[in-house]
Amino acid sequence: MEQNESILRMEHVTKLYGPNRSEAIKMMKNGSEKEAVYKKTGCTVALWDVNLEIPKGQIFVIIGLSGSGKSTAVRCFNRLTTPTSGKVIFEGRNVHEMDKKELLEYRRNKISMVFQSFGLMSHRDVLGNVSYGLEVKGVAQSKREKIAEEFISMVGLNGWEHQSCEQLSGGMRQRVGIARALVNNPEVLLMDEPFSALDPLVRRDMQFELLQIQRKLKKTVVFITHDIDEAFKMGDVVCIMRDGKVVQIGTPEELSMNPADDYVRDFIESADKTKVLTVRNIMITPSCVVRLGDSMDRAILEMRRNNLSSVIVMDNELHPKGMLFIGEAIQARKDGKTIPQVLQTGINAVAEDTLISDAISIVTESSYPIAVTDESGTMLGIVTKASILSSLN
Ligand SMILES: Nc1ncnc2c1ncn2[C@@H]1O[C@H](COP(=O)(O)OP(=O)(O)O)[C@@H](O)[C@H]1O
Ligand SMILES: [Mg+2]
Repeated sequence: MEQNESILRMEHVTKLYGPNRSEAIKMMKNGSEKEAVYKKTGCTVALWDVNLEIPKGQIFVIIGLSGSGKSTAVRCFNRLTTPTSGKVIFEGRNVHEMDKKELLEYRRNKISMVFQSFGLMSHRDVLGNVSYGLEVKGVAQSKREKIAEEFISMVGLNGWEHQSCEQLSGGMRQRVGIARALVNNPEVLLMDEPFSALDPLVRRDMQFELLQIQRKLKKTVVFITHDIDEAFKMGDVVCIMRDGKVVQIGTPEELSMNPADDYVRDFIESADKTKVLTVRNIMITPSCVVRLGDSMDRAILEMRRNNLSSVIVMDNELHPKGMLFIGEAIQARKDGKTIPQVLQTGINAVAEDTLISDAISIVTESSYPIAVTDESGTMLGIVTKASILSSLN
């Protein structure tokens, strides 16, 4: 995914709760841990010098253990909390310098929140909940219901418009919550652990649907979770937090390949890496290169030198064309045949951006290495059973 401009960012945001803040700040600056600061001063460091940029139109996931400051960060974004120091900037505007009118406009039209605990109005039906934001803005009934219908349909709740929200399952209520947040056409959707209360199967459906909706509407989403699989599944960019500090920000692939420290490594080790890494991350360079036009002598020599019983043969553009096996090559040399005459064509190749989870069956069912190719079909490397297996631990 291309890197866009940022829509929302934090600059040196610190949030402290409780007494003795200047002493707490001194201790933090001297490298103390959040825990020690609390014990000594009674002051909680919810956020410490947080700098981050949220790219427009992407899903930015914040992950961390409980108490690491995720919800505080979300509350700073929509100004439910004021940072002790530092700035929150939305499209160039310092959120904490907005006057009442600007703030109302910001919360109504720019940034919307979806809560874990749904927060629906139980005396209203689905349509009434979804259209509420438009009602507050004074949109006429027929118009707001038409718009609400569109989002109700987008979250898969057609036919449920007149159901009371009390009768809905958790997953359906969260769909209502998402439709309600989208109806004002906000630029940013804040989602604080939106799926944590759902059972795993419903949760998986909701994750996938949110991805589809986001890709369709290109909204900026700030998605909070404490589940690394969810973070990697949803996130274009993932920010890992610990004790109020940002530990690392990167794509799932970058975090998997280069975890900044043991905390990140521990998180990532609990994740299913095969769903993040692609064959590009594990492919190896073929030790032996044989082309269609090579002599059989050369092909046999190459295989012997490299101790291989088979080799992927390429054309001059480095497109894989087939497998040559040592036994057949030796026979062919006796018979005076060329490589194209004895090549086994129809070999398996996988694209470089294939997830390992998708490549596993192809590679493990094959008795020889699989070619990895780019968009134009040019060979980039090979994957073997051994390279797949070593990526799993
Ligand atoms: N209103 C508050 N008063 C005092 N401490 C708070 C308040 N809100 C959050 N905290 C503390 O700030 C830290 C970060 O909390 P929070 O942002 O809710 O973390 P997370 O969402 O990652 O679990 C925690 O140590 C929490 O106890
Ligand atoms: Mg929280």
